[in-house]
Amino acid sequence: MLTEEIMTQEIDKGDAEKCHEDCNAKLFYSDAAKYWENVPATVNGMLGGFGFISHIDIDGSEAFLKTLFTLENPPDKNYAVDCGSGIGRITKNLLVKHFKHVDLVEQNSKFLNTAKKSLSSCSTRIGEYYPLGLQDFCAAPRKYDVIWCQWVLGHLRDDDLVDFFTKCMNGLKENGVLVVKENVTRSDYVEFDTEDSSITRPYDNFKSLFKKAHLECIREQKQLRMPGILYPVFMFALRPSKTLLAHLALQTTDTSSI
Ligand SMILES: C[S@@+](CC[C@H](N)C(=O)[O-])C[C@H]1O[C@@H](n2cnc3c(N)ncnc32)[C@H](O)[C@@H]1O
Repeated sequence: MLTEEIMTQEIDKGDAEKCHEDCNAKLFYSDAAKYWENVPATVNGMLGGFGFISHIDIDGSEAFLKTLFTLENPPDKNYAVDCGSGIGRITKNLLVKHFKHVDLVEQNSKFLNTAKKSLSSCSTRIGEYYPLGLQDFCAAPRKYDVIWCQWVLGHLRDDDLVDFFTKCMNGLKENGVLVVKENVTRSDYVEFDTEDSSITRPYDNFKSLFKKAHLECIREQKQLRMPGILYPVFMFALRPSKTLLAHLALQTTDTSSI
């Protein structure tokens, strides 16, 4: 009886903690969505008032992307996806210049509509507009040569980010690459921004999340020429580790044999 009582209390405590966690997660995502609803659908809006750095950012991304095309086993130039695309700034200024087709994933419908208008001159090159949060996005298997994630992953909690990375790996074609371009802290700890409900991770934290998702970082570069008052920005090019590749291959064999 006593044992049962203790067990019940433990289960209740566990449930309460889980409930609290779920509630926090929901708030983390809904607060971010609310924040972005009130942001203008402009380059300046996307970059928090620092619209003037857009060309510096795009130049740095383009130089980094070009180095990926010089790899021994480079990604193809057929299909890219812009994750957390906002108004399509990166698609328009970078991805459509290098890939035949681009998909966009963005949870804010106002931004996606602006992206559609802004990309109308190259609409035949745009595949899908996915109106989704990245925590709910599952890339079609082996569809993409490059998956580009920029200034959005601070909106994903660690467990969702690792899940997202795993789904991205499944969405990459052979020789495909996942690019992560994000702010990193100068401190050693995760910094929470209550205004937009996002976190900024330290460099080492990204590295340990890549490891947790079984990703291998094949190239990285710090973005140069950023104003000193902003966080440092890093670009990472990632591929599945050998262990993950073997696991994904096994999954493919299993599916085809069903
Ligand atoms: C700082 S803006 C960057 C936009 C774009 N990546 C760029 O660099 O121009 C962040 C974008 O992430 C989107 N976002 C926020 N939380 C998201 C989530 N959970 N899933 C997908 N997009 C999200 C916002 O709506 C916004 O468009």
